[in-house]
Amino acid sequence: MSSSDASNISPLLEPVVQLVRTRYNIDLGVYRRRFLARRLRVRMRSRDVDSLEAYGQLLVNDGSETRALLAELNINLSYFMRDQSAYEALSERALQPLIQRRLAEGSRRLSVWSAGCATGEEPYSVAILLAELLGVRRADWRIQIHATDLSEVSLTKAEAGRFAPSSFRDLDAPYVGRYFTLAGTDYLLDPGIRSMVNWHRGNIKDRPRLSEYDVILCRNVLIYYVYAQQDAIVDHLLHYLAPGGTLMLGLAELLPKSATHRLIATLPRMRIYQSPLEEGA
Ligand SMILES: C[S@@+](CC[C@H](N)C(=O)[O-])C[C@H]1O[C@@H](n2cnc3c(N)ncnc32)[C@H](O)[C@@H]1O
Repeated sequence: MSSSDASNISPLLEPVVQLVRTRYNIDLGVYRRRFLARRLRVRMRSRDVDSLEAYGQLLVNDGSETRALLAELNINLSYFMRDQSAYEALSERALQPLIQRRLAEGSRRLSVWSAGCATGEEPYSVAILLAELLGVRRADWRIQIHATDLSEVSLTKAEAGRFAPSSFRDLDAPYVGRYFTLAGTDYLLDPGIRSMVNWHRGNIKDRPRLSEYDVILCRNVLIYYVYAQQDAIVDHLLHYLAPGGTLMLGLAELLPKSATHRLIATLPRMRIYQSPLEEGA
């Protein structure tokens, strides 16, 4: 692929995008085409492959190459309000209505599970959104945010609440000013927000702390798994999603087909889905 054929990049990439979608249930289509083309070029160079066709073949024959490509796309990092518009949608279409519903029921409880939370930016982002929505009324609520991950190292980092500037690429400056203080070259998260999250090491497939969660985020985790396992993970998560609860996946992740009839596609482009409310609720 020469840099001169920028106008033709899109159709050239389509076969690779299609291949990764059908074989791995991962949607590379969410990435900007120029960005994707650049990253593909890096991988092709490192595997000594000079056509997209040959690279597609490599993806078919060598599963480890998909992992390498995903790593090249930086999918294995975490940052605050990752894919900002998705978090805005979560706030408007899931958290706000949930708060209203609870108030109408005379309850002030809500629960969130961040499954595969890595270094904590994801559950802390939800804590910040809830703090924004509830303001001083937050003290009247019982909010449980449970964050789980396989990696002890990541959880220790998460709990410390200390973040490098690279964690802020999707977070607007006013949030940084409101919820963080500068400590050397890093930023320390407000202790009030930190105390909203509980951390547990474990596999997503383990039984979580609560029998039901109002919101489950499982973002950029399914991409590590083959389709059958993605299916099993989502099936497991749905056992713990409350009626009317929200499931949010990563933008590159497609809901496994077996789950589509069990959920309402609230905002499928943002990978936000809802379980139906029980009759009479
Ligand atoms: C790329 S990070 C995603 C972090 C965050 N969810 C986000 O979107 O920014 C993926 C995380 O999933 C965790 N993970 C992968 N498989 C897991 C499993 N079976 N159980 C628990 N955590 C898992 C990894 O340890 C890693 O920290």
